[in-house]
Amino acid sequence: MKMSQLSTSVFLLLLTLSFSVSLASLSSILDVTLGSFQDIVDCILSKSDNVTFTSQLIFTPANAFFLPIWEFRIMDTRSLRPSTPKPSVIVTPVEETLVQTTLLCAKKHGYELRMRSGGHDFEGVSYSAYVPFVMIDFMNMGAIDVDVANSTAWVQPGAALGAVYYAISQKTDTLYLGGAGYGNLLRKYGTAGDHVVDVRFIDVNGNILDRQSMGEDLFWAIRGGSVSSFGIVLAWKISLVVVPEKRTIDTLLPLMDEKFLELGVTVNICEEMTSIQSTLVSWGFPSSTPPEILTNRSAFAKVNSKVKSDYVRQPIPISGIRQIWKKLLQNDNSALVVTNAFGGRMAEYSETEIPYPIELGCLQGCIFYDQAYDTTPISLRRRAWLLSFDDLLTPYVSSNPREAYINYIDVDLGVANDFFEQASVWGDRYWKRENFNKSVRIKAKVDPENFFSHPQSILVFSTSLSDI
Ligand SMILES: Cc1cc2nc3c(=O)[nH]c(=O)nc-3n(C[C@H](O)[C@H](O)[C@H](O)COP(=O)(O)OP(=O)(O)OC[C@H]3O[C@@H](n4cnc5c(N)ncnc54)[C@H](O)[C@@H]3O)c2cc1C
Ligand SMILES: *[C@@H]1O[C@H](CO)[C@@H](O)[C@H](O)[C@H]1NC(C)=O
Ligand SMILES: *[C@@H]1O[C@H](CO)[C@@H](O)[C@H](O)[C@H]1NC(C)=O
Ligand SMILES: *[C@@H]1O[C@H](CO)[C@@H](O)[C@H](O)[C@H]1NC(C)=O
Ligand SMILES: *[C@@H]1O[C@H](CO)[C@@H](O)[C@H](O)[C@H]1NC(C)=O
Repeated sequence: MKMSQLSTSVFLLLLTLSFSVSLASLSSILDVTLGSFQDIVDCILSKSDNVTFTSQLIFTPANAFFLPIWEFRIMDTRSLRPSTPKPSVIVTPVEETLVQTTLLCAKKHGYELRMRSGGHDFEGVSYSAYVPFVMIDFMNMGAIDVDVANSTAWVQPGAALGAVYYAISQKTDTLYLGGAGYGNLLRKYGTAGDHVVDVRFIDVNGNILDRQSMGEDLFWAIRGGSVSSFGIVLAWKISLVVVPEKRTIDTLLPLMDEKFLELGVTVNICEEMTSIQSTLVSWGFPSSTPPEILTNRSAFAKVNSKVKSDYVRQPIPISGIRQIWKKLLQNDNSALVVTNAFGGRMAEYSETEIPYPIELGCLQGCIFYDQAYDTTPISLRRRAWLLSFDDLLTPYVSSNPREAYINYIDVDLGVANDFFEQASVWGDRYWKRENFNKSVRIKAKVDPENFFSHPQSILVFSTSLSDI
């Protein structure tokens, strides 16, 4: 991309942040040399070959766009509060060099770093921290390059999932992203992590690595939801799965009759559709909706939630279902329980193929939403309900460890500290002991000073490595 195109896109981006400013104030707020945190701003600009341009990509709190940019990609509004700690500086790179420079300058001047891509983190670890930190927001790096002949795509981190589905559909109806975290085709094809075939990645020293130069250990470690403990992803290469041009119903109806006759599914209530249409439907839009909507972040409601997850590996007895139901009725309609069926293809992966051990024999994941979560009486009541619901589930969900989904990050499970035994309480729950140990060993090698950290990142311990 040429510089002129880049600056146009940055300018457009600023304009789309849905509030208006006069041109005069626009030029003054783009002047990031005003305000605090001069050390890191100067450091970044001193390494830039176009200071005018780069300064438009850096935002300090003195800048009127600082707060709107910070808020723009917060998808869980529980964190949208004045009291939430904010970055010292936000950098919105359009290319890889600025990511490298920001990393090196943050280290040099004693700031931590947080990376934000989609902004869906349930605990805000991608955009908030109780230490001085710089946030890299990948909003300007969202390119998606689909290679139909090879059934692959390179995807930059700023690309939202909907934009990826859309970009693929613009080239072909017979390829699809098989995972998505977990996605609609989970039981047939596995998770997104199972489809990552290569990566562009910046390590703690600022080196750009790919799968070959990083080696298989690190490549293993970054595919289980803990990549931000190891470095910065610049792009993922994902393999796409082959799907029929239309999802037809000729095999569905006999299957429904065989397995779920009670539901009485008939051809009249079925609709044949392309994969991109099925994405629209599963995200709550009619199948006739123009698929461009998938690229429009404003079309998707933000959530306000506290989420917990569990895996159910044994069928819950009817008595248990009754108890769960009764408990739900005691809630003030603020709770949502979602179950996702695992199994299928998932059961064929080993528990250590990637650091996501839930592939084997898992039946369901459950999420529990709570609509508000601050210190008002109503929130406190809901939180108490959520915790007692969590207790009630204990006999019905996995145990030793009680498993949880890292992508539904939950700081109630514990936070980073210096003791392996304490950290492994939540480490085991997300990754299981063997995968957690291996991740800890890899972390000690690639980031021994623990620069890349957050409340539930993989840690560096003083324990001798051979013990782990
Ligand atoms: C409304 C909603 C629906 C969801 N639905 C699903 C679902 O259907 N299936 C599912 O599996 N999950 C789902 N999730 C959970 C989702 O997978 C996680 O929240 C995931 O972490 C989101 O990634 P993100 O890039 O949007 O988040 P971010 O908040 O941008 O980042 C999440 C984590 O990744 C790190 N990170 C971000 N960018 C980089 C980078 N470039 N390099 C290194 N580290 C980086 C961050 O620092 C943070 O630790 C949902 C979440 C929400 C809020
Ligand atoms: C630097 O960036 C500005 C603003 O985007 C652009 O107009 C200018 O041509 C660039 N200068 C150089 C030397 O590339
Ligand atoms: C597939 O990818 C390889 C490696 O990137 C590339 O050289 C080749 O041209 C691609 N094949 C096709 C058919 O596009
Ligand atoms: C994106 O969605 C919002 C909310 O539905 C809508 O107001 C806006 O016009 C849409 N933008 C585009 C470019 O379609
Ligand atoms: C993991 O490391 C701990 C701490 O050294 C050790 O006690 C344990 O046996 C290891 N477990 C596995 C499964 O590797």
